[in-house]
Amino acid sequence: MTGSPQAGRVQTLRWRDGQLEMIDQRVLPAEFRYLRHDSAEAVARSIRDMVVRGAPAIGCAAAYGIALEALRERDAAPADFTLRMERAFAVLAQSRPTAVNLFWALARMRKCWQALAAQPVAAQAQALLAQAHEMLAEDIRVNRAMGAHGAALLADGARVLTHCNAGALATAGHGTALGVIRSAVEAGKRISVIADETRPFLQGARLTAWEMVQERIPVTLITDNMAGFLMSRGEIDAVIVGTDRVAANGDVANKIGTYMVAVLARRHGIPFYVACPMSTIDLSIADGAAIPIEERPRQEVTGFRDHQWAAEGVSVRNPSFDVTPAELVSALITERGVIRQPNRERLAGL
Ligand code: MRU
Repeated sequence: MTGSPQAGRVQTLRWRDGQLEMIDQRVLPAEFRYLRHDSAEAVARSIRDMVVRGAPAIGCAAAYGIALEALRERDAAPADFTLRMERAFAVLAQSRPTAVNLFWALARMRKCWQALAAQPVAAQAQALLAQAHEMLAEDIRVNRAMGAHGAALLADGARVLTHCNAGALATAGHGTALGVIRSAVEAGKRISVIADETRPFLQGARLTAWEMVQERIPVTLITDNMAGFLMSRGEIDAVIVGTDRVAANGDVANKIGTYMVAVLARRHGIPFYVACPMSTIDLSIADGAAIPIEERPRQEVTGFRDHQWAAEGVSVRNPSFDVTPAELVSALITERGVIRQPNRERLAGL
């Protein structure tokens, strides 16, 4: 299914004719197409292969994965239904390790399912689908609330650096970091965006730049190694990024390269903000050292898609995320408000 996005509205995930459709983010911006999914296994594959990515979007997709499996098995005997649902939970939980929203969403779906135990299997399936729809709608509400809180932190005319894509494409809509920027623009502020390209998967160049161009929000693309130079020349007023998991002490896991940006921001006295829905805070993890960091395939570093440029046989590291210590974070922007200088006490207070 190909085409172009509806004016001004990116629907990363949508429910059509009993299936989950996802924008295929691997081929943007050259191509705009939706892929259809009819099982938990298909959804898990698309999460692993980056058809859908971004912590909140992964969570919503997983919720639909559970609903799809329940709908597929709605005529099964209760014992078989339970077996297949357990397999669906397991396969989705193995898709990607870092974004806690995935596990948060699965836990919520499990809780909903457990509460339905007395009902016929077909009714359970319908209720799980309703729950997935609700989680999608809730994600947009949360992003709008974060946007309203965060917009107040940006001055009129601010030039804002962002890393990776924490936009509508990374969520059910509006975005987290880009949601703050969108809300500031909606409030009448003149904001311009500096988008880090985000090696190696190029989420900044391919996705953030595309989202901003679609909405005519001024955007300038740079390669990741240019951020320090622009900061040193006084060309960046604030940094806003998203996150995949925040530990109990406020350490922030986000796309590889975020830590570098945070260190540079501190060196230049530039505020470093993290847009962080409550679903991304993981109080069960004491600090950033314990956050599981995904290692992705070597081919993402030795080249891009079919074009490989590094010497064959070279050894490669490809950690997909890094951890920014809480001390470098000026504030977490959540749907409940802004937490300045996050630390263990302030997060526990939530
Ligand atoms: O590997 P990705 O593209 O899933 O990484 C995404 C990010 O790092 C985002 O910044 C994060 O998930 C927050 S999205 C609102």
